[in-house]
Amino acid sequence: MVCISLHPDFQNNTKTQLMNIKKEIFGQCPKGEKVFLYTLVNPNGISVKITNYGAIITDIEMADKKGTKENIVLGFKTLEEYLSADYLANYPYFGAVCGRYCNRIAGGKLSIEGINYQLFINNGPNHLHGGETGFDKVIWSPKTIEKPDFVGLELKYRSVHLEENYPGNLDVSILYKLTHKNELQIEYKAVTDRTTVVNLTNHTYFNLNGGNDNVFNHQLQINSKKRTVNDSNLIPTGEIEEVTNSVFDFSVTKPIGKDIGSLPDGYDLNYPLDNTNKKMMFAGKLSEVPTGRSVSVFTDEPGIQIYTGYYIPSLGNRFGRYSGLALETQHYPDSPNHPEFPTTLLHPGETYKSKTIYLFETH
Ligand code: BGC
Repeated sequence: MVCISLHPDFQNNTKTQLMNIKKEIFGQCPKGEKVFLYTLVNPNGISVKITNYGAIITDIEMADKKGTKENIVLGFKTLEEYLSADYLANYPYFGAVCGRYCNRIAGGKLSIEGINYQLFINNGPNHLHGGETGFDKVIWSPKTIEKPDFVGLELKYRSVHLEENYPGNLDVSILYKLTHKNELQIEYKAVTDRTTVVNLTNHTYFNLNGGNDNVFNHQLQINSKKRTVNDSNLIPTGEIEEVTNSVFDFSVTKPIGKDIGSLPDGYDLNYPLDNTNKKMMFAGKLSEVPTGRSVSVFTDEPGIQIYTGYYIPSLGNRFGRYSGLALETQHYPDSPNHPEFPTTLLHPGETYKSKTIYLFETH
């Protein structure tokens, strides 16, 4: 049974008055730019905080089955903490949008229409999440939107030709929508003036018990029976393997901690989804029995990266290894060097479009 407790005013049909957006100053970047924090609230009391620095989701609050509200994602309350040296030293990309190409590109080597581009190496021998200054560290232009059935924040950014050495001026927009049906919808769009690659995701880590424990007792279901096999630096070999009955198998719901002991660094892999024609499909569900909270993921992307946060740093007495789980919808890692994978190329005249929905429920 799904029981979502409705605010009494919502039951009286005044829902539009209860959907709202609050804007406040979040802080100042080193070059003096002010950035903002937007709080989107829906009639059922779910709230999502997003800053236009890095398009980062900093906080998502929802009630548990007893009505207690807690933050269910890893994040900070101040911009300073996102910019601090301690956090950036072992940077886990809390809540950010990663791009221009999220995940890894082997050796940072990109070859497009006969031209080779060397991208920044920031993860062992590879390029990760867009490079030195990816979309997670830039300032986006914000615009708030209020409609009868959702409140939204649109964020725009122009990534100029050869920024991080990617070809083409890329105009990107992200639309975050919090609906009265308790969904956080994320719609990405991008256009370019030269052929380039695009792969965008949101890197939110969920912890459905409000961060009171690690995620080992969370239950996970993934709507896939396959994985892309990786080399030791997490670059796909090209092989796609059946995972049925292996430690990687989440096709039937199981606790994250059940088999994690046999993986030295926990889970960090891409599950291909049976989704070649851009239809929205169920990708997976994370739930936590004691609080009754769950988040289900729907996407039109062909894959989902599951990362159990082995490298999340401990900061003071917060966070640390396995303190959150990222459900990152995206194309497969290193697709530009694997012509057999769904393509991530974007040509002038085309529009990159991608959509992901996180549905929050209390059972
Ligand atoms: C990757 C991990 C990486 C993490 C960085 C994830 O998307 O799959 O390998 O360590 O991002 O925070």
